[in-house]
Amino acid sequence: MIITSCGNSITIAKRVAQKLNVAFSPLTISQFPDGDIYLKFNTPLKGKKVVIINSLQPHSDMSLFDVIWAAETAKDLGAKKVILVAPYLAYMRQDKRFHSGEAISSRIMAKHLNSCIDKIITIDPHLHRYKSLKDIFTVQSVCLTGNKIIGQYIKNNIKNPVIIGPDMESYQWAEVIANEVGCENTVLEKTRFSSRHVTSKLTKEVAITGKNVVIVDDIISTGQTMIEAAKKAKAAKAKSIIGIGVHGLFAENGLSKMKKAGFNQIITTNCIEHATNKIDITPLLVEELKKEK
Ligand code: R5P
Repeated sequence: MIITSCGNSITIAKRVAQKLNVAFSPLTISQFPDGDIYLKFNTPLKGKKVVIINSLQPHSDMSLFDVIWAAETAKDLGAKKVILVAPYLAYMRQDKRFHSGEAISSRIMAKHLNSCIDKIITIDPHLHRYKSLKDIFTVQSVCLTGNKIIGQYIKNNIKNPVIIGPDMESYQWAEVIANEVGCENTVLEKTRFSSRHVTSKLTKEVAITGKNVVIVDDIISTGQTMIEAAKKAKAAKAKSIIGIGVHGLFAENGLSKMKKAGFNQIITTNCIEHATNKIDITPLLVEELKKEK
């Protein structure tokens, strides 16, 4: 087995390689003067399993291209199996044609990957209208979740917490994480008017006054969803407000907007490398990849 990365998840990739005691072989990726991709493997691949560990953020478009280039090249060089580990899988939110004429990006992304990889492993992908990754992937797919690790982090670091999921879909994180921590949880009902404008309201009353409110979601993009939830927690006199995202994208200065909105802490897992990373998902990947050794 050889582990590599196109650059987005290099720290995790090296850690996983070390834990599994397999070689980490960096790729050479650059651009020709006209912008065309240049990609080179620096180790023989014939008959080997090649694991590409690379989140599809930052730069979802370029990252997807890099991964396709790497997977196609690995196959071309005789790899016996190509596994993509994308801790964050981009494009999953466009899972239907919301307006006529729109691209269903998740299907297009999966279609391209289906043609060049043998297996995909990801963490908490945005499954909303799709029941599982099998709805779009024809290759073997594995969905891992950071719920347990996040729950343990809260248990060890945050006293007297209550968990809030900022929209109905987030019950899959809020409920499980609250059970892990052993505290109460609720989810909000969110209305999305555009990709930058949302409102939300409480669905089930829980005790918030004086509590450390932990808002958990799969993705923090512009931060608006988190900010709307924080307003509700503030109004209910929370002691402090902590935002935890599995995937911290922080588009359009999302992080500073959240800080301005009164978040006491903003924490993410290292599914996407970022200064807010405090929760390490490496053990999940190590356990899963052990099955491939
Ligand atoms: C969507 O339903 C996701 O679970 C997140 O709530 C959403 O992507 C967050 O986006 P933003 O930070 O831009 O509000």
